[in-house]
Amino acid sequence: MRVRLRVNGAERQVDVEPRVTLLDALREVIGLTGTKKGCDRGECGACTVHVNGRRIDACMTLAVMHEGDEITTIEGLDHPVQRAFLEHDAFQCGFCTPGQLMSAAACLAEGHTGSDAEIREWMSGNTCRCAAYPHIVAAVREVAGRA
Ligand code: FES
Ligand code: FES
Repeated sequence: MRVRLRVNGAERQVDVEPRVTLLDALREVIGLTGTKKGCDRGECGACTVHVNGRRIDACMTLAVMHEGDEITTIEGLDHPVQRAFLEHDAFQCGFCTPGQLMSAAACLAEGHTGSDAEIREWMSGNTCRCAAYPHIVAAVREVAGRA
């Protein structure tokens, strides 16, 4: 099936089988490999992208469901939380980081940053096997103006 997506502001047409996830379409067809595949079953958040401004696990949705949708991947993100991650050393191996950043930008936009506990709760869909959690929370807290 042919699907028309807007990815990071650019019109993309992809030909995919109906079973292909948005994650695989982004990585394998379009070639944007910044979005990571961790579990491929909605548990780790490594594949988080924004669809029409809302965060979503790209492994849990089919590409053909997104005709005309506006997709933002880590390659298209331009947000202060990226610098905050650098300043707070909010990563180690970096595998979870694209998903953490997409989720952090959404968490800030949603306003779920009133306390560290709230940040943790609303970032809980993104796991980090390196356990950089305290630094991730610090980065989000700073951008939220609570540092
Ligand atoms: S790869 Fe999508 S949630 Fe883990
Ligand atoms: S920085 Fe290694 S998994 Fe998060």
